[in-house]
Amino acid sequence: MQTLTDFLSSNGIDADLQQLLSTLAECGVEISELVRGGALAGVLGATESENVQGETQKKLDVIANDLIKAKLAAQPLVNALASEEEDYVVACHSDGKFLVSFDPLDGSSNIDINSLVGTIFSVLPAQNGIEGEAAFMQPGRNQLAACYMLYGPATVLALSTGNGTIMFTLDPRDGQFKLVDEAVTVPADTAEFAINTSNQRFWQPAMQSYIADLLVGKEGKREKNFNMRWIAAMVGDVHRVLSRGGIFMYPQDSKNVAKPFKLRLMYEANPMAMLVEQAGGIASTGYETIMDIQPTDIHQRVAVILGSANEVETCLEYHK
Ligand code: F6P
Ligand code: MN
Repeated sequence: MQTLTDFLSSNGIDADLQQLLSTLAECGVEISELVRGGALAGVLGATESENVQGETQKKLDVIANDLIKAKLAAQPLVNALASEEEDYVVACHSDGKFLVSFDPLDGSSNIDINSLVGTIFSVLPAQNGIEGEAAFMQPGRNQLAACYMLYGPATVLALSTGNGTIMFTLDPRDGQFKLVDEAVTVPADTAEFAINTSNQRFWQPAMQSYIADLLVGKEGKREKNFNMRWIAAMVGDVHRVLSRGGIFMYPQDSKNVAKPFKLRLMYEANPMAMLVEQAGGIASTGYETIMDIQPTDIHQRVAVILGSANEVETCLEYHK
């Protein structure tokens, strides 16, 4: 079976990008080992600190962030990095050509219950003469690569460099990612949706009516029954969408008026949007294509509606 390294070198990917992607994959292999150790690796539980977004940091959030930061800082190709767990952009090598944004441990509330977690990366080109946070203010459309590692029963790596979405599985026998699907395709139709329904009373009218119509099922205007899944880790929900289709939503809500959106544009929505679009799906806020958003802040949040093309289009109709 083809390894990630072989795949990268035989598919015309820029040599520097290949090197960067190998570094990202190494991070995934190491975090995967820590996750597998669970309580034995001393990685469960919370720290006493909060991140810039006011969320309590889990031990593994901090461990994974430090591990990735150290590896990226040692990689001369990395110009600067932005992380969910870092208040500010971290400058690395001024002549490096890549800007890397990442969520070191997505779904970290799952870690203590031995459920799915993952790591998400987005790679942007460095910009001549622009430094710090300003350099990162590029739409997702500029991404050179998007990738996640999902630490589940198997550790998987999904990757796009703009030429389709490709899936690898970590082979525990030799620690190499092996190619399992070189053309991931999200089916256009689905009967499966994912949304945190505990927020239902806080949604806007468009999402209220869309979900209400799904729930009526066969007897309603959709004339079919829908099933629901919610993993509480975007990386797990998106992996399901890439594996068998579906629609995943984290819409605007009014639970906390100061925080109408949950998911972060730079290291959650944008890379997942690229992976989904490159597999034939759609990723939108309801009003705007995610990858066309001009960012204004590395930690900015957006509404996310992504997945099977026809189903996302149907949901978008409710937003018009
Ligand atoms: O990173 C934010 C996140 O953990 C996502 O991975 C996930 O989709 C969401 O929050 C789950 O939040 P909740 O279940 O609280 O709505
Ligand atoms: Mn996350």
